Amino acid sequence: MARKHSMIVGGTKGVGRELAGILASEGQLVSAIGRSPGTFPEFPGGGQVIGFAGDVEHPDELLASLKGHIATHGKVSSLVFLQRYRGKGDAWTGELTVSMTATKTLIEGLAAEFAPDGDRSICVVTSNASTFVARNQTLAYHTSKAALKQMARFYAVKLGAQGIRVNIVSPCTFVKAESAAFYQGQTALQEMYAKITPLARMGTAREVAETVAFLCGPKSSFVTGQELAVDGGLSLMLQDAMAREVAGIAG
Ligand SMILES: NC(=O)c1ccc[n+]([C@@H]2O[C@H](COP(=O)([O-])OP(=O)(O)OC[C@H]3O[C@@H](n4cnc5c(N)ncnc54)[C@H](OP(=O)(O)O)[C@@H]3O)[C@@H](O)[C@H]2O)c1
Repeated sequence: MARKHSMIVGGTKGVGRELAGILASEGQLVSAIGRSPGTFPEFPGGGQVIGFAGDVEHPDELLASLKGHIATHGKVSSLVFLQRYRGKGDAWTGELTVSMTATKTLIEGLAAEFAPDGDRSICVVTSNASTFVARNQTLAYHTSKAALKQMARFYAVKLGAQGIRVNIVSPCTFVKAESAAFYQGQTALQEMYAKITPLARMGTAREVAETVAFLCGPKSSFVTGQELAVDGGLSLMLQDAMAREVAGIAG
């Protein structure tokens, strides 16, 4: 078969950038989409990342330009959604467009663009804020992340007969290249995460990306509509017991 071509919406930073590197290291052509295209290193073995400038706040325009890009660079093997609203406008309208409308528009518009011999997989990255409530995130973020999970399950059923798999990755707060310096300087915060997380540390963008790569790849070929939490076991913990541990209150 021709070189696999994966598309990562939100592929220029954070988890998306890590994932682009993982897939390109496997020899894939990766189109990493962001408002600015970013720059990427060269990869040995034929892999390549192309930074693609596009804005999910304008889903129909982005779909049209991605179809042109596919006509030039080949049908899609995997399609991954990592974007969240980073604009300065109204958070509700922006998040619904960026998370919900853009994901729906691109899944429906690109479903016919998957290569017959590719991995035919879609992965939607949500958050533990799809289940729990965090005071530092907006209502729009919470509701969009929760709705994305049901959207993924809906499309897993709808697209299953076409051999397209749709899965979900839900991380907790992780360290990424862009935030590493901040967390390194926050010893108390690191210790708190070590106390409340069964695996006793924070996770990394690389670990989230590796999970997405697994769900996109051939080793998960009979898995669809499933959610994998990448949280070191954090979601297993009883909240008040966790608070007692952090506060050092016995009993
Ligand atoms: N960071 C965490 O600790 C954490 C925790 C739980 C869940 N998550 C979720 O995990 C996912 C990845 O998080 P992250 O922190 O790695 O993301 P990030 O560093 O904020 O990267 C977001 C990506 O989306 C792109 N993007 C943003 N707005 C866009 C737009 N309007 N059009 C096109 N691209 C756009 C960004 O590129 P440009 O800026 O160039 O547009 C970037 O490539 C997100 O869905 C996030 O909600 C993150």
